[in-house]
Amino acid sequence: MELPGFTLGVFILLLHISSVANYPNGKVAKSCHGMIPEHGHSPQSHPVHHISVNQKTFGPGDQIKVTVSGPPFKGFLLEARDAEDLSGALIGSFTLIDSELSQILTCEDVQGSAVSHRNPSKKTDIEVYWNAPSSAPNHIQFLVTVVEKYKIYWVKIPGPVISQPNVLPFTTHEATPAPLSTLPPVSHLTKSFSASDCGNKKFCITSPLNCDPEKERACIFLSFTRDDQSVMVEMSGPSKGYLSFAFSHDQWMGDDDAYVCIRDGDTVHIQASHLTGRSHPVIDSGGSLEDMAWRLTDGVMQCSFRRNISLPGFENRVDLNTSYYIFIADGAADNGRIYKHTQQPLITYETHNVTDYPKNIGGSHSSLLLKIHGALMFMAWMTTVSIGVLIARFFKPVWSKAFFFGEAPWFQVHRMLMISTSALTCIAFVLPFIYRAGWSSNAGYHPYLGCIVMTLAVLQPLLAAFRPPIHDPRRQMFNWTHWSMGTAARIIAVAAMFLGMDLPGLNLPEPRKTYAMIGFVAWHVGIEMVLEIHAYRLTRKVEILDDTRIQILQSFTAAEAEGHAFKKAVLAIYVCGNVTFLIIFLSAINQL
Ligand code: HEM
Ligand code: HEM
Ligand SMILES: *[C@@H]1O[C@H](CO)[C@@H](O)[C@H](O)[C@H]1NC(C)=O
Ligand SMILES: *[C@@H]1O[C@H](CO)[C@@H](O)[C@H](O)[C@H]1NC(C)=O
Ligand SMILES: *[C@@H]1O[C@H](CO)[C@@H](O)[C@H](O)[C@H]1NC(C)=O
Repeated sequence: MELPGFTLGVFILLLHISSVANYPNGKVAKSCHGMIPEHGHSPQSHPVHHISVNQKTFGPGDQIKVTVSGPPFKGFLLEARDAEDLSGALIGSFTLIDSELSQILTCEDVQGSAVSHRNPSKKTDIEVYWNAPSSAPNHIQFLVTVVEKYKIYWVKIPGPVISQPNVLPFTTHEATPAPLSTLPPVSHLTKSFSASDCGNKKFCITSPLNCDPEKERACIFLSFTRDDQSVMVEMSGPSKGYLSFAFSHDQWMGDDDAYVCIRDGDTVHIQASHLTGRSHPVIDSGGSLEDMAWRLTDGVMQCSFRRNISLPGFENRVDLNTSYYIFIADGAADNGRIYKHTQQPLITYETHNVTDYPKNIGGSHSSLLLKIHGALMFMAWMTTVSIGVLIARFFKPVWSKAFFFGEAPWFQVHRMLMISTSALTCIAFVLPFIYRAGWSSNAGYHPYLGCIVMTLAVLQPLLAAFRPPIHDPRRQMFNWTHWSMGTAARIIAVAAMFLGMDLPGLNLPEPRKTYAMIGFVAWHVGIEMVLEIHAYRLTRKVEILDDTRIQILQSFTAAEAEGHAFKKAVLAIYVCGNVTFLIIFLSAINQL
């Protein structure tokens, strides 16, 4: 998943959730303190697993057998703490009994201060020894977090309390263990969001621009409504799996403040998270968002929440009193777990201050560099090359007689169009390299085909510049080489264009683009065939005239003139069709 070069990550949000289940190897040291698997779901409230011990009192250096048991589970994290301060430091250390199933962790810099699973296999009980330290608090309580599967887990299930001898008995402060639910209640929205206040009360980002979530299901909508010290956020879009947006200082993914609404069956989870790099967002423990609400109807997912403009207590939440680039990404989710978006995220063209004047803006799913790359390549390999080759193939006799600047016009046109093709290719070629700051290793065969085309596009005019004179015996050789390399370049270029249009970096809308590309190829081949058949029939006619030797000169020129008029008409029609196809592609790129 990691591409070389730091800018390879530009615009790509990889949205996954890091979690205990995502650490099937049990290296969950990150969760040591809170004991919360960052799965982003509410923990279960009624524990079904329990901890038992083989003795109730302990002295320094004692080894106590601790057992975690219950219905089959995949992961766990076991710790011992001061029973009077359950969020305090970890006490003592553990020794494994079955190192196949469990492993010791170094939490809070103390080796062996916690135990976790070694692999995600199902287990029903785990036994370990706890070693009492030389100086321990009076009462120790064991705590365990158990993950049955990704969405189903219990946090900090309280276990038995063991005490030093001759101390006052431990009195529980909590009659029933309070589950550490981190997600505040959510309510259902009763009606759809609307774009009618966009630009006067709300700051809105919409895609397609100016769409209204009330009317169009496909509308991706994000709005911010400022209200004194807080901002109300509304997000709406087709409910494929998840919808998310992020505030970013740059157009690169990483170190961004992100918000995710995940569909999970018939409910929606709303979570604040942090994008550390081009990888899984880290779901925050919660508490920063208020007034959460959501709605799922007609295949549309809507979620809203309120957050304070400044959240000093939450290190990953940015202050909304400045300008940011805003990303919107969506994609699939499965059981509350989110996957990388299929399409490039939408990114605003510039930074915006969402708490300032309400505006109504759009964004782009693609970078300008890649757009120019695609556009120039289309111009070169659909239009200039096709017309230039048709001219060299069929218009030599038509435009050979009139000379200007000492060269036949067909040759001048061919040379001009082909040099343009090569020049456009060279310019367009460097752009994805600038954008990626390196090689596009995740772009399939497209870059390889592209490099072949680029090489041929440089060689072709170079070789042509050193072509042997017309009557040189090596001229035949040149003609053949020039024809084959040129034809190969065009065929490979068509393949490169087909693949290029499908790349996520510049994903033109399906299925129109495929039809348009097939249409273009059919149009080009059709016209070439018409001209080919026409040329063949013209030679036949001339041969017959030649054979019968009747008024050779007059009829020949008449037939030829008629043929030339036909060819010119076909060329004019061809150019119109070709330019129409080009415009279709350029406008599709423009709309990304
Ligand atoms: C025949 C014409 C084309 C040639 C010779 C060509 C060549 C290339 C090359 C060499 C790269 C890789 C650059 C790198 O590794 O950084 C590339 C990347 C790319 N090309 Fe093309 N290309 C052509 C047409 C197109 C078209 C028509 C499109 C889209 C409509 C397109 C879209 C892309 C995209 C999106 C990338 C970036 C892939 C990524 O890194 O995400 N290309 N192209
Ligand atoms: C990307 C660059 C180029 C491509 C793809 C290309 C392609 C072609 C093709 C396919 C033909 C054969 C047409 C046919 O008979 O079917 C041709 C003919 C020709 N090209 Fe190019 N060409 C390129 C650049 C140039 C340049 C820069 C020059 C001149 C400096 C040139 C000079 C010629 C000549 C003289 C012919 C006629 C050969 C003959 O007598 O059959 N070409 N070109
Ligand atoms: C937001 O601000 C209000 C008052 O300004 C405060 O009462 C509330 O606790 C803050 N919310 C959060 C999540 O910090
Ligand atoms: C934004 O708010 C923070 C915290 O209240 C403050 O430190 C900062 O100066 C503010 N920035 C602007 C541009 O108002
Ligand atoms: C953003 O807008 C708020 C509210 O109008 C304003 O206080 C703040 O200074 C603005 N920030 C910037 C960087 O312009």
